[in-house]
Amino acid sequence: MRIIVCGDTDHFADRAAGHIKERLAGANGPISLGLAGGNTPQPIYRKLAAEPLDWTRTVLWLGDERWVPIDHPDSNSGMAQRLLAEHVDARFLPFPYDPESGPAASAMRYAEALAEVTDDDAERIVLLGMGSDGHTASLFPETDALSAGGIYTATWVAAHETWRVTATMGYLQNAAELVFLVTGPDKAHVLADVVNGSDDYPAGQLVATASADVTFVVDAAAASRLTDSLT
Ligand code: 6PG
Repeated sequence: MRIIVCGDTDHFADRAAGHIKERLAGANGPISLGLAGGNTPQPIYRKLAAEPLDWTRTVLWLGDERWVPIDHPDSNSGMAQRLLAEHVDARFLPFPYDPESGPAASAMRYAEALAEVTDDDAERIVLLGMGSDGHTASLFPETDALSAGGIYTATWVAAHETWRVTATMGYLQNAAELVFLVTGPDKAHVLADVVNGSDDYPAGQLVATASADVTFVVDAAAASRLTDSLT
């Protein structure tokens, strides 16, 4: 586990983009890059979009999605497309929102598409956010998504009265690297628990069981509860 603590928000975005750029540039073959949703990664995607990297061997996909069409303001696919995918020559897989089929069938279709376009030897790197409730991707506490098999699943999140679709715990666990991007004081308590090995939260369960390398890029506010020995 590696923890990169950055001062302020600008330094955080620079450092996170730098880490991701290093990983992409250092990869030997095809790359499968899972993108985090929400607000935290947005300045990072803007910076990556300006990087002169060879994106042709990268497939960009969404670690999770809200159950909305891509042109909806809450869409992670729309956000990723606007800020990164339309600016680089990577292959981009937006989530196939289809109200006719519903969340479960659409998640299955996405899983099939991911399996189809991702080279067997692709290095899977997944960017992840984390909520103050300890969710990551759309693996929310006390939901059936936590025990789902396969690659991608649909999940009713009662706490938010909404459908979500998400990469499964298993698909995330065996990535090459998980890069958690966490900022803000409201996540400090959960981050400290997760980094200290607690599996009380989905993010902690993932970190505790993943075969992947795990990197945290965090700002000082989110790191405020980490003990000195861990930073
Ligand atoms: C989403 C996410 C989710 C997000 C966390 C943190 O669709 O919202 O993928 O897991 O990463 O909720 O969100 P913020 O970055 O907005 O704090």
